[in-house]
Amino acid sequence: MTPSADMPRRVTILGSTGSVGRSTIDLLSREPERFPVEALTAQSNVALLADQAMMLRSRLAVIGDESLLPELRQRLAGSGIEAAAGSRAIIEAAARPAEWVMAAIVGAAGLEPTLAAVRRGAIVALANKETLVCAGALVMREAAQQGATILPVDSEHNAIFQVFDFNAPETVDRVILTASGGPFRTLSLGEMREVTPAQAIAHPVWSMGAKISVDSATLMNKGLELIEASFLFPVPEPRIEVLIHPQSVIHSLVSYVDGSVLAQLGSPDMRTPIAVALAWPSRMATPAGRLDLAAVAKLTFEVPDSARFPALNLARQALQTGGAAPTILNAANEVAVDAFLNGRIGFLDITRIVEQTLTRLVGGTLGDLDAVREADQAAREYAARLVDPTGDGRVVRVQTRGLSRP
Ligand SMILES: NC(=O)c1ccc[n+]([C@@H]2O[C@H](COP(=O)([O-])OP(=O)(O)OC[C@H]3O[C@@H](n4cnc5c(N)ncnc54)[C@H](OP(=O)(O)O)[C@@H]3O)[C@@H](O)[C@H]2O)c1
Repeated sequence: MTPSADMPRRVTILGSTGSVGRSTIDLLSREPERFPVEALTAQSNVALLADQAMMLRSRLAVIGDESLLPELRQRLAGSGIEAAAGSRAIIEAAARPAEWVMAAIVGAAGLEPTLAAVRRGAIVALANKETLVCAGALVMREAAQQGATILPVDSEHNAIFQVFDFNAPETVDRVILTASGGPFRTLSLGEMREVTPAQAIAHPVWSMGAKISVDSATLMNKGLELIEASFLFPVPEPRIEVLIHPQSVIHSLVSYVDGSVLAQLGSPDMRTPIAVALAWPSRMATPAGRLDLAAVAKLTFEVPDSARFPALNLARQALQTGGAAPTILNAANEVAVDAFLNGRIGFLDITRIVEQTLTRLVGGTLGDLDAVREADQAAREYAARLVDPTGDGRVVRVQTRGLSRP
């Protein structure tokens, strides 16, 4: 596929009702002729999904929760927009012929729809970092075989993508991922023990979905990004560093062998990295705030504190171990974050559960999607038992949020 930024580009958004999905819709709605919409998908927010589909005249709208199909049909009645439901229908939506697919489902649930877009050689704007954490080798291999283009949307990876010399990767010395440090950057361990879900999702800089906000608070988000970066860029793990930068103005940096350090800067607004991917290989205007460095005045940096934020080292260890370890790390983290958001465990238990699951289950290689599913499920079950050793049935809901069964 020869990408042309100026020709109309048919798009699909997986996870259109989420934070990244809504930012993508905001950009599309400003240039509807340039970006006709093939399909939009959501899990349960049927009202917003139907509104988005009507506004953008999408050909298809898919709701993950099958019990909501009658409501979706009713809301779309008379519009000519197709309606479908269920996780298989989301995968089928991704397989339909849109040139550009935004992968913005949260969690491992995004893997198979993203893979469906990769397998037909689409341009995939990848926000769903869990896809590469759970199955990075598999996804990158498929992308290479099918001629798919993966464009990173995570602001850090998008920054690196913009300043990385892909023609001379041997000239890159290090890549440096920046992290805001999250809402608990300055808290002691004792103070962190008491924090609530509401405090954890109130990110000081970025406005994001609940899961990634909690991941930012534990620094697991940066750990997942470290793993993601190792698949996206030809740089070995020891040369991918993390630096805390509370202002989130520098989105990441690439350091070259001659001592030059190139960075991408901007206001913390996801519409910028989304626009980079949407218009790629060209650029498009966005309403994102212009960066006023004089107003920002001061940019500060710190080394991450691994004693208070052990998640980053856990992710690094999982990456070093390889095989199923990142899949296990991710699945245990999803279960633990869900349990924290539902008030069932404390904030510090999240990393403890991930660590215990990783210690107990590490091992195995991931040859195919079935092996990924198996590792994901085993980790979810183990982590769910740590959340709820007595087992009262509620864990079943947690388990169903991972990869779909074939
Ligand atoms: N938010 C950011 O600024 C940001 C930045 C960088 C990377 N990311 C990454 O982008 C992804 C999305 O993040 P977000 O903050 O936009 O998340 P979010 O606001 O929670 O939105 C998630 C989207 O996925 C849908 N969804 C949830 N569970 C699903 C399932 N089991 N099957 C199918 N669809 C499902 C949701 O539908 P409903 O609305 O119907 O529940 C929603 O459309 C994450 O992987 C995150 O790490 C986000």
